[in-house]
Amino acid sequence: MHELPVAVSVNGRDYRSVVEPRVTLADFLRENCGLTGTHLGCEHGACGACTVLLDGQAVRSCLVFAVQVDGQEVTTVEGIEGPGGELSPVQAALKECHGLQCGFCTPGFVTSITALLRDNPAPTDSEIREGLSGNFCRCTGYQGIIAAVRRASETAELNSPAQQ
Ligand code: FES
Ligand code: FES
Repeated sequence: MHELPVAVSVNGRDYRSVVEPRVTLADFLRENCGLTGTHLGCEHGACGACTVLLDGQAVRSCLVFAVQVDGQEVTTVEGIEGPGGELSPVQAALKECHGLQCGFCTPGFVTSITALLRDNPAPTDSEIREGLSGNFCRCTGYQGIIAAVRRASETAELNSPAQQ
């Protein structure tokens, strides 16, 4: 099959490759970039495990072709961290609130929650549930995850310049 060049900035690093047009962004990240933190659950847009940030927007990387993101910026779970390389507020809150068990869904939740709180720093419980309705978790019953979003929201509020 005819292959096409693709150049993507992932977590601030440039990756270039030549891929078949049918290669998804998820497979590109995992196989061409070696970034296996992005997980594949359903591979048809239902579970949210493959969620990454594409130019800042949460997208399902199993539904996007790598060639479509040529020239764009991707952030995967490997690129989400605190300013000093520590856990980000979302990651720390998931740990603190027991928002994960097997962890398979967790990269998708980390990216989705990061985008959710950036767009809505103080979501209500129903906004949290709506915001995470595209991410499936088979282990936690969601209560710990929702508590983690609340906790991350509080942490971010405490750390915002207006509060200092
Ligand atoms: S693997 Fe992409 S939504 Fe499930
Ligand atoms: S922690 Fe296992 S699927 Fe969510």
